[in-house]
Amino acid sequence: MPGVISVNGNITSAEEARIPVLDHGFLFGDSVYETLRTHRHKPFLFTRHFIRMERSARAIELNLPWSREKTFQEVCRVVDAAGFSSESRIRITVTRGVGEVGPDPGTCKSPNVIIIVTPLAELAHSIYENGVDVVISSFHRTSHLADAKTGNLIRTVLAQREARIAGAFEAILLTPEGWISDGITSNVYLVKGRKIFTPSREACSLEGITRGTVLELAGRMGLEFVEGLLPRSEIENADEMFLTSTTREIVPIVRVNDTAGCRIVGNGKPGPVTRALRESYVRELDLLIQED
Ligand code: PDD
Repeated sequence: MPGVISVNGNITSAEEARIPVLDHGFLFGDSVYETLRTHRHKPFLFTRHFIRMERSARAIELNLPWSREKTFQEVCRVVDAAGFSSESRIRITVTRGVGEVGPDPGTCKSPNVIIIVTPLAELAHSIYENGVDVVISSFHRTSHLADAKTGNLIRTVLAQREARIAGAFEAILLTPEGWISDGITSNVYLVKGRKIFTPSREACSLEGITRGTVLELAGRMGLEFVEGLLPRSEIENADEMFLTSTTREIVPIVRVNDTAGCRIVGNGKPGPVTRALRESYVRELDLLIQED
C-alpha cells in the first residue's frame, strides 16, 4: 500500500518507517489515536479530532508531546509529502514510548508520535444508493474507556473478522446488557418517522465527529434527535437505519443479520431521512472545510 509516514517528524515511505519494538504501543496497545481524512487535500475537522485525542490521552494519563498547532503542521507536511491525487486517510497515533518489557507506563521515557497518510479508499456510489448489510457482533462494547480511542483494539479486530466472514459491511456491537452501542468503527442510528435515535454515552458509544455534524444538521432540518438506550429489538420497528464515520460519511443500512435470522430494515431501500441527511452533509462540506 502506498503511504507516507512521519515518526516524530521524520518523514519516510511506509516501508521505511520504524518504531522500536519496546514501545509500549506495540507491546500493550498503550497508545491513543485518531483517524481523519482530507477534503480538497486539507485535513478535515482537524481541531475536533485533536480535542478528542486530548480527551483519550487524559483518559489513559498520557501527555501528548505536541501542541495542536505543531500536530496540525506536521499532518499538513505529511499530506503534502504524500501528494496523492486522491483524498488522504490520516491516522495520528501517540504511543507511550519505549519502556521495560512489563506493562508499567512509568518505565516509558517519551511518547512517539506517528502520522500515517495513505490514499483514502472512497466508497462506491452504489453503496450510498443501495445501502449495506450489517451483522450483530458476538463481541460486546463495555463501559470501560468506551469514549477513548486507544490502541487496545483486539475486539475491534475480531469483530471486523466476524463481519468479513459474514460478508457484511459493518458489525454492530451491543453492550453486555443488550443495548445497541455502535459499529466496529462507526456510530449507528435508527429512524422512525422524522425522529432519529442513536445510542447515548451510557450505551458505551463513541462521540463520533461525524455524529456531531449529523446532530447539527438534523436540528437545522427539523428532525428530532434522540440519544438514549436502544434495545436490539428496536431494529424491527425502525423505518430506516444508517451509520456514520469520518471515512465513510453517512451510509444507509438496509439489512441486519444475527443468529436469529435476517431483518430487512424498512422496505429494504435507503429511506428519505437518510438520503436527505446525506445530501445535506455533502452540501455542508463546503462550510465545514473552512474549519481548522
Ligand atoms: N473510527 N465509533 C467507533 C467505535 C469508532 O472507532 C469510530 C471511528 C466512530 C465514528 O467516529 P468518527 O465520526 O469520528 O469517525 C464511532 C475511526 C474511523 C477509526 O477507528 O479509524
